[in-house]
Amino acid sequence: MQVIFEKSVKERATAQYPKLDVEAMDLASLTGGVLRENDAEIPELSELDVVRHFKALAKRNVGVDDTFYPLGSCTMKYNPKVNEKAAAMEGFTSLHPYVEFYRAQGTMKLLSHLEELLCGITGMAAFTLHPMAGAHGEWVGMSIIRKYHEVNGGKRNRVLVPDSSHGTNPASAAMAGFIVESVATDSNGEVEIDDLKSKLGDDLAGIMLTNPNTLGVFETKILEIAKMVHGSGGLLYYDGANLNAIMGKCRPGDMGFDVVHLNLHKTFATPHGGGGPGAGPVGVCSKLEQFLPTPRIVKNSEDDSEMPLIWSDDFPQSIGRVSGFYGNVGIAIRAYTYIRILGEAGLRQASEDAVLAANYLRVKIGKLFPVAFDRMCMHEFVVTPGELLKNGIHTLDIAKAMIDRGVHPMTIYFPLIVSEAMMIEPTETESVEELDRFIEIMEDILDVAKNDPELIKTSPHKTVVKRLDEAKAARSAIVTAGFN
Ligand SMILES: Cc1ncc(COP(=O)(O)O)c(C=O)c1O
Repeated sequence: MQVIFEKSVKERATAQYPKLDVEAMDLASLTGGVLRENDAEIPELSELDVVRHFKALAKRNVGVDDTFYPLGSCTMKYNPKVNEKAAAMEGFTSLHPYVEFYRAQGTMKLLSHLEELLCGITGMAAFTLHPMAGAHGEWVGMSIIRKYHEVNGGKRNRVLVPDSSHGTNPASAAMAGFIVESVATDSNGEVEIDDLKSKLGDDLAGIMLTNPNTLGVFETKILEIAKMVHGSGGLLYYDGANLNAIMGKCRPGDMGFDVVHLNLHKTFATPHGGGGPGAGPVGVCSKLEQFLPTPRIVKNSEDDSEMPLIWSDDFPQSIGRVSGFYGNVGIAIRAYTYIRILGEAGLRQASEDAVLAANYLRVKIGKLFPVAFDRMCMHEFVVTPGELLKNGIHTLDIAKAMIDRGVHPMTIYFPLIVSEAMMIEPTETESVEELDRFIEIMEDILDVAKNDPELIKTSPHKTVVKRLDEAKAARSAIVTAGFN
């Protein structure tokens, strides 16, 4: 057993790293209780058993590969299969997180280049790829802002968040130790400037903004807002969940933002998974670079040609480690592939097409359901059930009726400032035929809702399970049930 193990390790190492002196590797030192003495107890299943198990699981799932999935703010864009192919390359998948740096130079070069590309896309000076999700990135970004104020002696403990913001924004600011205060939205769907003005002050740490915001509206007064917040000594945090609307058109750094998080799984076509695995890289302007989490990839000062890049913890002002190893590297590889294939012009076109598709739907669906803040939208827009509420039909009923018609529902009851909100985001990858099919579905739902409201109120009718007790499901989730 031990001989076979040694041989295969040597063969693979030689094939992968031709320059490596495999013979000099002291594999014998792996004895002493480290090597397995008996075979591992792995369940004995045939390939067919395993295929059927995973196929059955897959059939119970719905994703972008199955159907139209207009989940506003969550940006469920198509994940090109070439991204998977790149991430599955053996040179990446066979790396162990504890592997010596000189063996991981290719991956480190890719990660370092991805950081540079994200700097270019957002207008930031430096990036960290460590955070594992958007919300994690928010907490990292807000921790950097806290550290900045600590170092600069400011007793600033208040963070402003618009009332349209995603719930993770106030939660992350609170987790980073700030007092959170809400800023109102004006009748155009933008930050209410007078309200913001009244909340500035020498205890202000900063403001968290999403632009375009969660109503799909671009904050046209962003430069004025940045001037006001900076003028009172605060910093601007950019929630990049909606970057898909502006890639290659404008950059958060140029708008005045100091810290940015990106959701790679929303903008750069990587999988969301069931709430993960995601990635929420954080970018900062130059004065905040020293606070980024460690380790960071840096050039090797010893100029060893075998190892031009190393991971360094030598950043005394850093907020420290925020993830076990180096972030969600598999997701970073997929995002890198997407960015490199599309290039600057392709990314810009993706944003333009996303905005075009959203406005096409806004105009057509707006004839069926009232649009909240009805103006040119960015990548998403919000509608409500309107007159249907009089028939006792709510947003939840419309969402369930969509399931019966083979479409994943849009985001519902968010943003909180629009009562009965339905937030629709088609993304750039849907054809006009698919958008028209969606419009027909919404017409059909409206028609049935007017003529036979009970049919909509009791939907879905075609699913294995009907209406769930969602509160009970959330509070008493059974997560260990087997599948037959
Ligand atoms: C506007 C906004 N901010 C932040 C987040 C949090 O991102 P994540 O789900 O990656 O934690 C979301 C998620 O949907 C979002 O829509």
